[in-house]
Amino acid sequence: MKINELLNVKYPLIQGGMANIATGEFAASVSNAGALGLIGAGGMTTEILKENIQKCKELTSQPFGVNLMMLNPYVDEMAQLVIDEGIKVVTTGAGNPSKYMKAWKEAGIIVMPVVPSVALAKRLERSGADAVIVEGTEAGGHIGELTTMALVPQVVEAVSIPVIAAGGIASGKQLLAAYALGASGVQVGTCLLASEECPVHENYKNAIVKAKDTDTTVTGRIGGTPVRIIKNRMAKEYIKREKEGASMEELETYTLGSLRKAVLEGDIQSGSLMAGQVAGLVKEIKPVKAIIEDLFHDCEAEKEKLINFLGE
Ligand SMILES: Cc1cc2nc3c(=O)[nH]c(=O)nc-3n(C[C@H](O)[C@H](O)[C@H](O)COP(=O)(O)O)c2cc1C
Repeated sequence: MKINELLNVKYPLIQGGMANIATGEFAASVSNAGALGLIGAGGMTTEILKENIQKCKELTSQPFGVNLMMLNPYVDEMAQLVIDEGIKVVTTGAGNPSKYMKAWKEAGIIVMPVVPSVALAKRLERSGADAVIVEGTEAGGHIGELTTMALVPQVVEAVSIPVIAAGGIASGKQLLAAYALGASGVQVGTCLLASEECPVHENYKNAIVKAKDTDTTVTGRIGGTPVRIIKNRMAKEYIKREKEGASMEELETYTLGSLRKAVLEGDIQSGSLMAGQVAGLVKEIKPVKAIIEDLFHDCEAEKEKLINFLGE
């Protein structure tokens, strides 16, 4: 079953919940384009999340969801808020959401945690997850170690719930490949950053469009909090200090406010421009609807090519 049937949307595509970027307004634009928009609650307070949910409800009658980061200090309150607000879909990142699962399931919420390993996927299936979002290390933002190519089929073999592939998907070929790996749908982040509706600064969008295949790097590998971002002065300095043995505290102080600098101020040298390896494939800024429609249209064309190729 493709994931759009479970989610009641046209396309089996989820917009990744991107902290400090995926507002209610942005999520509504994705939902109105026929995919599942998500409000990224990481970086929000409970009150701000509530405002974003209201905004999203005003702007779309289509299903949308909320992405909750388990590290958010307000996550307990937010876990209750999604129930009170009648949210239909919750995705979770950066940790294990098992303790909220019972209450969410009783409220009829579809729960889809992001997982970086087979072990966590199996554990969350047992806790009642409806699907898992399997994210490879190619993705933008906080990442795990394994690639989408290696991890998705291993999780598909290990669980019986639907698997959604994330990380490294921005073209019809990659969407088709995700289906071939056994995924029931995909989650994307990087390609939607370069959309007209995305509320990041123009400089951030242009940095994605200009990026080449090798233009992302990973900070925080040594400290155990890896984050994929576009290479810039800040990234180089962070990695240098990390290698020199800087403490977590020092590194945190150094990067304080860096996402804000990138997203709001467009500071592409000292800001943190989270983006995935597929940035090299993103060539223009387009409306959200066009990005999603092109992806599925190109996937059909690639499918035909592949059938011909394999049939030879
Ligand atoms: C700028 C940015 C911020 C992100 N923030 C979050 C987040 O707050 N929560 C989360 O679960 N995933 C987050 N992600 C990961 C996305 O939800 C998604 O899984 C990922 O972008 C998919 O890979 P792609 O970047 O190759 O498309 C973020 C990704 C990006 C690019």
